[in-house]
Amino acid sequence: MLIHEIMFMIITGIIIFATCHANATNETININLPIFPAILVFGDSTIDTGNNNYINTIIRANFPPYGCNFPGHNATGRFSNGKLIPDFIASLMGIKDTVPPFLDPHLSDSDILTGVCFASAGSGYDNLTDFATSSLTVAKQADMLRSYMARLSRIVGKEKAAKIVGEALVIVSSGTNDFDFNLYDTPSPHRKLGVEGYQNYILSSVHNFIQELYESGCRRIMVLGLPPIGCLPIQMTMAMQKQNERRCIDKQNSDSEEYNQKLNQSLTDLQSNLTGSVIFYGDIYGALFDMATNPQKYGIKETTRGCCGTGEMELSYLCNPLTRTCPDPNHFLFWDDIHPSQVAYLVISLSLIDQILQVLH
Ligand SMILES: *[C@@H]1O[C@H](CO)[C@@H](O)[C@H](O)[C@H]1NC(C)=O
Ligand SMILES: *[C@@H]1O[C@H](CO)[C@@H](O)[C@H](O)[C@H]1NC(C)=O
Ligand SMILES: *[C@@H]1O[C@H](CO)[C@@H](O)[C@H](O)[C@H]1NC(C)=O
Ligand SMILES: *[C@@H]1O[C@H](CO)[C@@H](O)[C@H](O)[C@H]1NC(C)=O
Ligand SMILES: *[C@@H]1O[C@H](CO)[C@@H](O)[C@H](O)[C@H]1NC(C)=O
Ligand SMILES: *[C@@H]1O[C@H](CO)[C@@H](O)[C@H](O)[C@H]1NC(C)=O
Repeated sequence: MLIHEIMFMIITGIIIFATCHANATNETININLPIFPAILVFGDSTIDTGNNNYINTIIRANFPPYGCNFPGHNATGRFSNGKLIPDFIASLMGIKDTVPPFLDPHLSDSDILTGVCFASAGSGYDNLTDFATSSLTVAKQADMLRSYMARLSRIVGKEKAAKIVGEALVIVSSGTNDFDFNLYDTPSPHRKLGVEGYQNYILSSVHNFIQELYESGCRRIMVLGLPPIGCLPIQMTMAMQKQNERRCIDKQNSDSEEYNQKLNQSLTDLQSNLTGSVIFYGDIYGALFDMATNPQKYGIKETTRGCCGTGEMELSYLCNPLTRTCPDPNHFLFWDDIHPSQVAYLVISLSLIDQILQVLH
């Protein structure tokens, strides 16, 4: 109920976001649902809150205009103009305002107690993806969880640490980079597996990763599926669509939907094997596809290019302080050529909170 009311306020403009050239407003709405003591986040750039600032990779976003609508207008390494899904979920569910990256050397004990982000932009479930981008593989992210737990144990003791991790909301979001690099956009050796074969390959990797999180003590895990990959601006550019004829690529969208159905099923199977776990599929496809096809419902005017630059190819260092941005990112579904804008992330987050509350309440 509450979610729908907030949704209504956003659509009717009661909650107003700043544009990149205006003052920031406080978009935090605390609906106070202290269900989770902490939040733990694994995956790729859609949820990396800044780990790549601390590793040797060219996949970065810690310079303007990234972050121009983030509190303090700070480019923190988040790949959008503002907050990401983990930040919105953490703040709307009363955990904390933003989720810090685990590699930040200045984390306080209270940051550790309420959870951190292990995600790394450019990463995937497939090792070939990480090899191409020098990002942190999911295997490394699982190692980081073990370091996190050691630090948490030093603060609250081993028993309490295990309880926090067991009750924490765990969000996993990855896969888009895998399909982009290995199936659609580059001649990767894995292309020979075909759509079906590659989906199954990724699903077995998801399975191993979730099992590993379970073995470390995670019990409440939401695994996000794929977005409509065919609606990402980069895919339209790679398909060499003419400037005025950019549109979603149906085949890539139906592939994404098929993968999501398989993921949903395999998570149900996995949950029944892992005692005491709640492991469930989080759908982002529906919210994104609705924004792409009914943008006017959300006050969005442009869906086929990002706000940064031409919006057709800008990403990471190609979206930099010299790049022009659109006057109002709230009118854009995408911020750069892959990543949704803050307003799109808020809409997705509200849908995910609804899904979380249906499973865990
Ligand atoms: C932004 O808001 C702050 C606090 O309300 C105010 O001090 C500052 O002058 C404003 N800046 C601009 C550019 O409007
Ligand atoms: C924004 O709102 C939150 C929750 O009500 C509050 O804790 C925070 O201090 C506010 N931030 C600013 C900059 O006003
Ligand atoms: C901006 O973010 C960076 C990286 O997270 C941090 O080191 C810096 O202190 C922040 N600056 C401000 C003004 O908040
Ligand atoms: C990926 O790399 C990790 C760590 O190097 C390794 O343990 C794993 O077996 C690799 N996975 C595949 C499918 O090659
Ligand atoms: C996931 O699968 C369950 C049945 O196993 C179904 O009820 C649910 O609607 C599916 N979710 C989505 C988003 O497709
Ligand atoms: C569940 O466990 C059974 C028996 O050990 C195994 O055959 C099956 O593959 C497992 N399924 C999953 C999804 O882990």
